[in-house]
Amino acid sequence: MAVTAPSTSTLLAAARREPGRPTPVWFMRQAGRYLPEYRAIREKHSLLEICANPQLATEITLQPVWRLGVDAAIVFADILLPLVPMGLDLAFVEGEGPVLRNRIRGPADVARLVDTNVANALAPVAETVRLVRGALPPTIPVIGFAGAPFTVASYAIEGGSSRHFVETKRLMYEHPDAWNALLTKLVRVLGEYLAAQVGAGADIIQVFDSWVGVLNADDYRRYVLPHTRALFTQLGLLGVPVIHFGVNTGELLPLLVQAGGDVIGLDWRIGLDDGWRRIGFDRGVQGNLDPVALFAPPAELEARVHDIIARAEGRPGHIFNLGHGILPTTPVDAVRRVVDLVHTLTA
Ligand code: CP3
Repeated sequence: MAVTAPSTSTLLAAARREPGRPTPVWFMRQAGRYLPEYRAIREKHSLLEICANPQLATEITLQPVWRLGVDAAIVFADILLPLVPMGLDLAFVEGEGPVLRNRIRGPADVARLVDTNVANALAPVAETVRLVRGALPPTIPVIGFAGAPFTVASYAIEGGSSRHFVETKRLMYEHPDAWNALLTKLVRVLGEYLAAQVGAGADIIQVFDSWVGVLNADDYRRYVLPHTRALFTQLGLLGVPVIHFGVNTGELLPLLVQAGGDVIGLDWRIGLDDGWRRIGFDRGVQGNLDPVALFAPPAELEARVHDIIARAEGRPGHIFNLGHGILPTTPVDAVRRVVDLVHTLTA
């Protein structure tokens, strides 16, 4: 009988629901504009330049590990990168966010997407994973990531960030065949891309379905679940735990569980205890401090961290995180205090 060695990191232990202390903590968008050392690099290089430069991306990936004492590094990249080798023209525009100039407008554009091996095109990301893995002790895992098919498709269709996802839903409702063809292509591409990250040394993966909470359960079941589940089936073969995250997913949680994931991420709108109950205690849970709580007075912030730890009830399988990414104007000091407090409270 194979004996599984105990996990060398608190984060991997939690992802496998092994008992372990202290509770691991990391932050979505932990490398980014709130860090002065990130801004210093960004003054000289665009986001896409950094993602294509493994040395720079590695340096940025490691910044929050040294600065904050978090329990994991997330490779510096972006969920929209896989759209580039598929033929979409991606730019990040100052003050506007991502822009895809030749967005998908209908079935003909879906058919035109390039059927390419994205792992080759995204080799710099894999190289970043390799460099980061080599720079860290075994106690600090490297998180690889990708967007989920729905969220990546929404950018390809809207041509950028969106509030109401009108074009995305319109394609879904008007051209379900084209919608399914698009998501099928994305599942293949995202699966290959994540396999390349694991091949390069990623210890765990997070799938961001950030905007899927704009759908109701029926639409999720019909238009998203089969595709996201197909992706998670592929990921299951990689042998690393997978975190499945979305915002505003309170009502969708049982369906996200059906789609897959060893750990389900919660935003801050639902209590961690209520969310975990909806997910089921046979999965891990990640979250779920309001990113804006980091702007609150210290006593208020501490009370909220206490509350989340209390709601986890000491169960194995909790990874402490925010309910969404760190905001650019967040005070670094508050982030540090959260790491220390989570570690102290759960020591
Ligand atoms: O530290 C980390 O979390 C790793 C790096 C990372 C980035 N993007 C770098 C980045 C990760 C995990 C992402 C994921 C991502 N990218 C998501 C899912 C997570 C989420 O927030 O829900 C989404 C939706 C994107 C798409 C994206 N990238 C948008 C909408 C924007 C512009 C808005 C913004 O936050 O600035 C980006 C740009 C981006 N990606 C930045 C960073 C650090 C800001 C870059 C900058 O201008 O310096």
